[in-house]
Amino acid sequence: MLQTINNIVILTGAGVSAESGVATFRGPDGLWEGHRVEDVATPEAFVRDPALVQKFYDERRAKLKTVEPNAAHQALARLDRTWAGELLLVTQNVDDLHDRAGSQRLLHMHGELNSAWCRACDAHFAFEGEMASGPVCPHCHVPGCLRPDIVWFGEMPYQMERIEAALARCDLFVSIGTSGAVYPAAGFVQTARYHGARTLEMNLDPSEGSFHFHESRMGKAGELVPDWVDQVLSHGLC
Ligand code: OAD
Repeated sequence: MLQTINNIVILTGAGVSAESGVATFRGPDGLWEGHRVEDVATPEAFVRDPALVQKFYDERRAKLKTVEPNAAHQALARLDRTWAGELLLVTQNVDDLHDRAGSQRLLHMHGELNSAWCRACDAHFAFEGEMASGPVCPHCHVPGCLRPDIVWFGEMPYQMERIEAALARCDLFVSIGTSGAVYPAAGFVQTARYHGARTLEMNLDPSEGSFHFHESRMGKAGELVPDWVDQVLSHGLC
């Protein structure tokens, strides 16, 4: 059934950046760039081996300089520029590819590689370069207290109140390139449906919560997303 849409919430995951050459989190071996999640993406891992964790994110941050937004990022930025209704792009990704493509109505719920969090003064600020060398915080001038501004397992994602409010208002919820394995993001489809939204998934293969969606389109984000954006902008329908 086609319905007029005004208010869109889009959730993206690692699959939207895959065609740019950024590794997804859950490879066939269940490892993230050769590491177990518990060794690099938990507060406990950071306490246990800060040097390993800093090196891991320093490498991910350096890798960002070698990749470019792909057709899916570009199409979502085009939708953002053009769409007169309400729109919120929520990404689980810590890369900056949506930002560089030009998306403005964007929220990084799991933090950003290019951001630092000072554990001494609690400042969050833009950061480039390496943290492993223990740089000084530009705000409180304490050395060696910076950590990646990334939401690790067991920590609360950013701006959940804003996301929940947008999900309650939206009439279309779209999920792109996420396995649906990590909550709370994996539950957004149920929240949106509960509030009456139409729901669409675009992914290489069915996500864990695929059955919650009204419609699933399987394929590469770089092909599916530009087609979907064209469809929305030409018809205003989902
Ligand atoms: P995953 O690696 O779990 O899932 C990526 C999804 O993208 C899979 O379902 C793939 O099939 C799909 N995919 C791969 N290539 C694709 C392509 N070219 N086009 C479309 N889809 C493609 O990544 P996320 O679901 O994003 O959390 O992971 C969620 C969270 O778990 C991450 O944000 C991170 C991670 O641990 C934290 O760091 C807190």
